[in-house]
Amino acid sequence: MKKNIINLTYFFFFFFFFFSLCQIFSSQTKNKIKDIHTIIRTRRSIRKFKQIEIDIKLLRQIVSDGSLAPSAGNKQPWEFIVVTNKEKRKKVFENIYWLPQAGRPKLSQQPTAYIIVLGNPKVSESYLIDCAAACENILLSAWGYGIGSCWIGAINKNEIYKIFEIPKELEIVAVIALGYPDELPTLEYIKHNKSSPTPYKKDNILVIPKYHIDNILHIDRYNKKLNY
Ligand SMILES: Cc1cc2nc3c(=O)[nH]c(=O)nc-3n(C[C@H](O)[C@H](O)[C@H](O)COP(=O)(O)O)c2cc1C
Repeated sequence: MKKNIINLTYFFFFFFFFFSLCQIFSSQTKNKIKDIHTIIRTRRSIRKFKQIEIDIKLLRQIVSDGSLAPSAGNKQPWEFIVVTNKEKRKKVFENIYWLPQAGRPKLSQQPTAYIIVLGNPKVSESYLIDCAAACENILLSAWGYGIGSCWIGAINKNEIYKIFEIPKELEIVAVIALGYPDELPTLEYIKHNKSSPTPYKKDNILVIPKYHIDNILHIDRYNKKLNY
């Protein structure tokens, strides 16, 4: 009887030990999903990335989340190119520009994937706004999976058209750089019109100034502030 109890104790001990190991391993490898408010509040543009490839199925899911964005008249005037091929990635990198205050990522910290967002002006007049909504969905979805991203608008578009054989009737709206983050810029609240919202570096960490909500929020009429 006593022996049985000891064996059972050993069994449970090894079971929980193995279970904990599995948990640790899966939390390191799996993409944990954060709740939507945490995603919105903690997302920052990431420009330095770990050299870990993103699973293509996950990229497909992120683009799919992008394509669920609202669009005027539900016209969905968008298409997307996912870039994972190393040679193509290099070409994209040569044709995009980074926020000067952040600087260009070095070779060992370059994005490991890109999503090129294409808008179709023939499908909808509001293709730019609609594609912007899709872009934001992509950034938030990616961050929900622990993937950092940067919306790039400064693009050498002529080259991107050629490299990816993009039909001329489509507009390149944005290139979204992606990868597992190797930096975490910080957020700083500032007063509207009082201080400059230009990002800057402090102790080699990028600081992103954002207007404090009470400076830009009006209740029921312009300039009526929230009393609390
Ligand atoms: C339309 C648009 C274009 C952008 N273009 C670039 C760009 O070309 N290069 C870059 O490094 N960041 C670009 N960004 C990212 C902004 O610099 C970034 O969103 C801003 O500094 C605020 O930082 P946050 O995204 O961390 O909140 C762009 C963002 C938007 C919305």
